[in-house]
Amino acid sequence: MKICVFPSAEQMSKAGQELILRELKEDPSLALGGATGNTPKLLYGLLAQAAESGQLDLSQRQIWFLDEYFGKDMYYKYAINFLHNKFPKGKGIAVKNIHVPNGMYYFESQIVHSEILDEVLKKNRDDYEMKGPEVLIKPGAKHPFLKQLRKDTKTYEKSLPLERVQILGIGREGHIGFNEVGTSDKSRTHLTVLADSTVEANAEDFEDGIVTRYAITQGSGSIMKAYLPILFANGVKKTEAVHGLLIGDNPASVLRKHPNTHVFITGDTLGEFKSADLDKLRKKYEVTGL
Ligand code: F6R
Repeated sequence: MKICVFPSAEQMSKAGQELILRELKEDPSLALGGATGNTPKLLYGLLAQAAESGQLDLSQRQIWFLDEYFGKDMYYKYAINFLHNKFPKGKGIAVKNIHVPNGMYYFESQIVHSEILDEVLKKNRDDYEMKGPEVLIKPGAKHPFLKQLRKDTKTYEKSLPLERVQILGIGREGHIGFNEVGTSDKSRTHLTVLADSTVEANAEDFEDGIVTRYAITQGSGSIMKAYLPILFANGVKKTEAVHGLLIGDNPASVLRKHPNTHVFITGDTLGEFKSADLDKLRKKYEVTGL
């Protein structure tokens, strides 16, 4: 694992841009793995700038996003906006090459929102089993949209290219994608119950007034298969999560087992780390900027 500490979010994102440009230049078939949320917005802006100045053309690349809220297409819209619309014409990722897990299901001509899903799950207990926050739909599931959901998550999982640079953010309790505390390190793309803290932290995403408590997410195991995971985090709100990732135990700490994980963080994120912890990190990993 490589840990790079930067004075500001701008410098962190710039370093991310440079690393991604280098990787893409070396391998024309390399795909991207995208995260949504606030953290990577600066990075996407810098990638768009690189396209403006002729250093980058993503028109032949594929991008596979981590997750989507259940009952919404919000992250799909985010993906189109940041990787296509905000790029100079013809240089961004083609809409057909932007992949986001499907969160929109219809049942009896209605969009299945979280509350309807609650009802369906209550009435069809034989169709799934719970494993922590993971809702694992069984192969023999009878309910039509649960059946479809299982099929879609399997297809998404199978389509994920291993040769991808996976951009990651981290949630306050250490989730990557929406792999909440209690999710298996080996999980694959699945339906999950969101943690209360996630619903709270992402409240501004639900400006239509419909809060969702479920999401479809790549699993921790799906993320671990990516050739190069780069996790970005900045700010004191992420200190505890980053501590868990680097030293402790949270969903993101699985990334310590990946030989090529890059952790890009700002100095303030490490604010409350004890000096003994920092020494441990310096001894164990390749650390710059600390
Ligand atoms: C989003 C995602 C999440 C976010 C995380 C941090 O696709 O997978 O894991 O990366 O919740 O979100 P921000 O960057 O908004 O703090």
